[in-house]
Amino acid sequence: MSRRIGAAEIASRKGTAFPVITAYDAPFARCAEAAGIDVILVGDSLGMVVLGYDSTAQVELADMVRHAAAAVRGTQRAHVIVDLPLGTYEASDELAVANAIELVKRGGASSVKLEGGETAAARIRAIVRAAIPVCAHIGVLPQTASLGSGFRLKREREQLLRDAEAVADAGAFAVVLEMVEDALAAEITERIAIPTIGIGAGPGCDGQVLVLHDVLGLYPDAPPFAKQYASLAETATEALRAYAGEVRSHGFPPPRTRGAREGTGYRA
Ligand code: KIV
Repeated sequence: MSRRIGAAEIASRKGTAFPVITAYDAPFARCAEAAGIDVILVGDSLGMVVLGYDSTAQVELADMVRHAAAAVRGTQRAHVIVDLPLGTYEASDELAVANAIELVKRGGASSVKLEGGETAAARIRAIVRAAIPVCAHIGVLPQTASLGSGFRLKREREQLLRDAEAVADAGAFAVVLEMVEDALAAEITERIAIPTIGIGAGPGCDGQVLVLHDVLGLYPDAPPFAKQYASLAETATEALRAYAGEVRSHGFPPPRTRGAREGTGYRA
C-alpha cells in the first residue's frame, strides 16, 4: 500500500482552495512537504528554471524520470504529478501509455500530466485505462505555445469549456488552467466536477500552482502573475560571496583545534 496521497483524494478537494508547487529535486520537495504542501508537480518547466533552456521543448523523458525520482525521494506522503514532456505522448495511445508507465516505474510518479483539451482526450483515456491517474492541462500550453498555440491570455469561452469537459469526461482527476481569463476560469471551475488548478487564471479556481523558482526568487524571467515570496538568489549570492571572501582572506577553513573529532571527511 502506498503511503502517498492518491489522485482520488485530490479529486475530493473540489471546492477547497489547495496549494500546489513545482519541485524538481529532493531538498526543495522536502521543503514543500514540510511547509504543508502535499501536491508537488515535477513540471517540464524544469527545462527553463533548472536546466537553463529557453523553453520546455528540449526536455526529455529521461530528465523527467531523474528529477521526479529525486522529488519522490525527498518526500514521504506528497502526491507527485510528473509532466510527460513534448514528443512523448502525442503520436499514439501506445506511446503515451508506455511513457506514462516509465514515469511511474522509474520516476515514482503518483500521476502524470499532459497538455491539451479535446485533442488530448483519447490519450488521457488510454493512460487512465492503464490505471495511471492523469492531470490535464488546458489554456496556455507551454510545450506548443511557441509553435503557434500562443502565450496570450485565453478567452475562447466555447473552446475552453469544450476542452475542460472533454478532459473531465476522459477521466482526468484534475485539470490545470494556465492563463485563462479569470471569469472564464471560474465558470469552468463551476461547470466541471474535477478540481481546477489555476496558474495565472485568477482566484476562482479550486487549487493554485506556481513554479517554485518564481516563488523563491530564483528565476529572473518570472511571469507577472507569479508572486515572489523570497529572494533566494540574493541570499545565495551573499552566502557565496562571504565564503569566497573568507577563503581569499584565509578566514576559512579555521585552524583545527586540538582534540577536535577527526571524521573521514565524507558524509555518512
Ligand atoms: O511545467 C510546469 O511547471 C507546469 C506548470 C506551469 C503548471 O506545467
